[in-house]
Amino acid sequence: MSEAPEKSKELFERLWRGVGDPLLTASIYFLARSELAPRLLAQPSTADELAQSKGWDPRFLRGVLHLLTAHGFLTESTEGLFRLTELGALLTDEAVAETVVDRFEIDFPVYWALAQAARPGPPVFERVHGKRFYEFLRAERRYGLRFQSELAAEATRSGGSLATSYDFSAVRSVVDVGGGSGRFLAEVLRPHPRIHGWLLDSGPALTDAPALMATAGVGDRFTAVQGSFFEEVPPGHDLYLLKWVLPDWNDEDASRILTNCARAMRPDSRLLILDPVVPSAGPPPEWQRLDLLFLLFVEGRLRSLTEMGSLLARSGLELESEHAPDPGFRLLSCRKRPKAPG
Ligand SMILES: C[S@@+](CC[C@H](N)C(=O)[O-])C[C@H]1O[C@@H](n2cnc3c(N)ncnc32)[C@H](O)[C@@H]1O
Repeated sequence: MSEAPEKSKELFERLWRGVGDPLLTASIYFLARSELAPRLLAQPSTADELAQSKGWDPRFLRGVLHLLTAHGFLTESTEGLFRLTELGALLTDEAVAETVVDRFEIDFPVYWALAQAARPGPPVFERVHGKRFYEFLRAERRYGLRFQSELAAEATRSGGSLATSYDFSAVRSVVDVGGGSGRFLAEVLRPHPRIHGWLLDSGPALTDAPALMATAGVGDRFTAVQGSFFEEVPPGHDLYLLKWVLPDWNDEDASRILTNCARAMRPDSRLLILDPVVPSAGPPPEWQRLDLLFLLFVEGRLRSLTEMGSLLARSGLELESEHAPDPGFRLLSCRKRPKAPG
């Protein structure tokens, strides 16, 4: 066979892999949504038995179960009994099933509407769901908590890494601005018994933060502040933290947050920004997908060091030093810009 047809076959394979299989996606969603997985775990059943118990069309159900069997979620015995495989059994976990349902009902409609981002207007998420992303998270508590739980592992790891790499010896009070669940703050406080932490957030995870802090052994050195960083940041503390917050916002909103941090800071306070910082030419491959998601969901963006510098300057702050604690991430230590004399 000549090289050209081989090449075109490979290209077509890549094309169809990219297009994916919405029928399989929809069938996995159906398995998660219908709560069939726990039922099949308890009792392997035929399509007719399942259809009868739910009042569904058995032909429809058999079709879906066969597709899921072909993709390794189920097995079918010679008597027509469907059983969950190890893969299918993942959907018996309520949190996993809910994540699949949220992906399908909340995230995917935003992806399908991707082309709307070509025209000026609110973020695609808002055009699709009628609310800003974080307003939606506040209204849909379960989705809001899942969002925080997806950030949990990274927050715990980077909090632990900051706690040991930054010099906290002169610090007595820390405010984590937009600190979410408090996991990051808990890790910072844990090895530093002389520091009290304030957690400012407007999201649903804040209500669970006191329990999380108590479990981390820092419950008596922690204050939860329910509020918006667009209104006010608790004033007069030694250190302010902003992690994974600025990429959520366009320049105007990001500058409002930074200006409120600057207002809250004393001349000797410091603000630590912990975010990915991308080259001026744009995000490298490992951040490109996330950068697109920021655009679609919140109209935010990853920024270069130069862009961060201008954002800081227009917000009354300046960069004092920068470190790279993790690949791709930068820790920017900032202070208030001294007022020009006169
Ligand atoms: C991407 S999360 C980062 C959370 C945390 N800093 C971390 O790195 O895990 C952004 C956080 O900003 C919070 N947030 C959004 N709008 C806010 C507002 N107006 N005021 C305070 N917090 C807000 C969200 O609830 C969320 O916890």
